[in-house]
Amino acid sequence: GLRNDGERTMIGVIGGSGVYEIDGVVIREEKRISTPFGEPSDSYRIGEISGVEVAFLPRHGSPHHIAPHKINYRANIWGFRELGAERIISVNAVGGINPRFKPGDIVILNQIIDMTEGRASTFYDEEEIVHVDFTEPYCPELRAALLTAGRNAGVALKENAAYICVNGPRLETAAEIKAFSLLGADVVGMTGMPEASLARELAICFSGIGVVTNYAAGISGNRLTTTEVVKTMAESAEVVKTLLERTFVNIPHTRNCMCKDALANAKM
Ligand code: HPA
Repeated sequence: GLRNDGERTMIGVIGGSGVYEIDGVVIREEKRISTPFGEPSDSYRIGEISGVEVAFLPRHGSPHHIAPHKINYRANIWGFRELGAERIISVNAVGGINPRFKPGDIVILNQIIDMTEGRASTFYDEEEIVHVDFTEPYCPELRAALLTAGRNAGVALKENAAYICVNGPRLETAAEIKAFSLLGADVVGMTGMPEASLARELAICFSGIGVVTNYAAGISGNRLTTTEVVKTMAESAEVVKTLLERTFVNIPHTRNCMCKDALANAKM
């Protein structure tokens, strides 16, 4: 069953470039975890800030070597559960589709459109049939904590962004991005799903920070480069770390959101 035993809660962070070390967080341990679904991307770096336990996982391994379509999302999320994490904050590079979102912007995501295929995307693959509610894919309490932390830390944040997740690893065509825009997507990335729904299946709160690294295909007229994505991610790392540090100490100790009850009335 899920942990509801008053055990000290832990906050998980799934990050890419440069966000698994935060100035205020002292890493005291690296834990390797094997799961029934295989190996997570890397060991979990466990640390503490102001009495809050934090576990970091580099999504693509460190150094970066796992492509988005090859990440073992189930193992990554299951590992956090093993550690007792009740909440996960994920950081993702995104391309801006809606012109409201420009390179360098930091966005607190609030909706998802899933275009991925062929990824192991559920923990309920066997006898047990579970349909979790996913109307609101990101935890409202965590989103609020992030937005408040941004205001307190003077980090400008954008909100109300729908994230469309593509399989990759190739980038999109201009016509695909135009179509995604018509579907209501604001930003595009390759790693947000099935992370978010897997967390919901385990009743773990989940939130997404999007770092806009580029204009999506056809928006600016320029060709897209991985160099540009990596460069903008690196430039934003300090601001993201400041935001995370403020958020950790800002999160209420006990959960008051619907995520913790995700499995109530969800089983056939
Ligand atoms: N498309 C898909 N994934 C991305 C992009 C993009 O333009 N930028 C960063 N991740």
